[in-house]
Amino acid sequence: MNNSYESVMARKNEIMRKSVGIDFDKFETGHIGFDYEALLKEGNLSLEIIKEIQQNNGVGNTPLKECKNITALARKVAKPGYGARIFIKDEALNDSGSFKARRASISCYQAKKLGFKGVIAATSGNYGAAVASQAAKYGLKCIIVQECYDSHGIGQPEIIEKARACEAYGAEVIQLSVGPELFYKFLLLLEETGYFNASLYTPYGIMGIETLGKELIDDCLKLTGKEPDMVVCTNAGGGNLTGTARGIKKTTDKVITIVGSSVNLKGLHMADDLDFNKKSFTTGHTGFGLPFIINPDRSDVPRSSARPLRYIDRYVTVNQGEVFFMTEALAILEGIERGPAGNTSLAAAFSLSQELKQDQIIIVQETEYTSAGKHHQAQLSFARENGICIYFGDPQDEIPGESIVLPKAINMIKAIDLDLDSIRKKYLHNQILKSNIICQTDIDFLVVETNTSRDFVMTELKKYNVKVED
Ligand SMILES: Cc1ncc(COP(=O)(O)O)c(C=O)c1O
Repeated sequence: MNNSYESVMARKNEIMRKSVGIDFDKFETGHIGFDYEALLKEGNLSLEIIKEIQQNNGVGNTPLKECKNITALARKVAKPGYGARIFIKDEALNDSGSFKARRASISCYQAKKLGFKGVIAATSGNYGAAVASQAAKYGLKCIIVQECYDSHGIGQPEIIEKARACEAYGAEVIQLSVGPELFYKFLLLLEETGYFNASLYTPYGIMGIETLGKELIDDCLKLTGKEPDMVVCTNAGGGNLTGTARGIKKTTDKVITIVGSSVNLKGLHMADDLDFNKKSFTTGHTGFGLPFIINPDRSDVPRSSARPLRYIDRYVTVNQGEVFFMTEALAILEGIERGPAGNTSLAAAFSLSQELKQDQIIIVQETEYTSAGKHHQAQLSFARENGICIYFGDPQDEIPGESIVLPKAINMIKAIDLDLDSIRKKYLHNQILKSNIICQTDIDFLVVETNTSRDFVMTELKKYNVKVED
């Protein structure tokens, strides 16, 4: 077999088809669309079955907790009568320490059912630990491929901590430096081992999160007698928001505002060797959030099941300094020490709560574990070593890669709205590049994908030289 970069890339669709046991081609429709809902039925797993699989494997049923002191703090700076109650879903209490256990549980269940001997995932984040932990339960072998080092061999502390966690669960960890070799190595390993591709972006990786959306509604009703008004999801590859929103929609008809939240890393390039260690967050940031929302199929399967644009009502950013500040606030005011990704949404929720009335409810839909390099003090020390200037001031002055600005007053914590319509237009642009001819089925697909109207899509299409078939 020719293992040159070009040959392996040329075989990628075939490798992926074999390694997830899904024939993605059968879902293709029109010239650019596909049947998303049919893909999400793959495996024939109902929400009830998924809940049972998770319950038997240390996943789900995490507690929803009210952050009374953080709410009280938000009310100090909100207009009179404003400052919604803030709750967090304590997903750190899943085995392996994050909501990613929900995704891994269904991938590993499926791998076992289909007779694979092991699982492989390309991830530098919590998902590695989640897959390793679930693989251990099913007696599956596990390989995690990480993008971990810059070209000087310096590793991001959070990613190094994840390698430790994966190895603790018995996985083999392959650590690479920044660059395109990750996907190449991943494909080669899938081919050599014949293991299951436990991608974050298969339908299994999304349906596993739907239980989280359902639990949010059920828990909130039990605790407060009401359903939430707003749910904030930390957004990177988009699966977290997609799965949560789908679970919510399967559970209630109430219109709940779904907010995506990411750390603002504007100007830093994710695949750039120099920028790699200049950021203090390895997920939940705009460096993943924006490219994935405008081009969801850039993932490691032919069609990604993470499609946040279908469900998102608002997309906000917060700064690194604000998230570090809220991480301490959660520990000091609520006695809960948790990791950065969930606290990204908490920082946003602190600001958004001030837009809602006091009898309304806002839920931060996950927390994650913290330790070693994930801890904010470790990240701040690492940032200092990398020449980042850290000070108290106005977080809006923060320049990613140059400074981290911790808020000098709590009224300076502000979630900033991104323009969703311009994001939708960029998404449409990327889709239209795929074909210069489209049909009515494609148009219907684009309307659902962007959660807009036919008018919105047609107005955009007219700007391009695309032929529309009847
Ligand atoms: C704890 C935690 N929260 C949120 C996210 C973001 O999830 P997604 O990539 O599905 O948007 C991640 C992903 O790395 C994560 O590990």
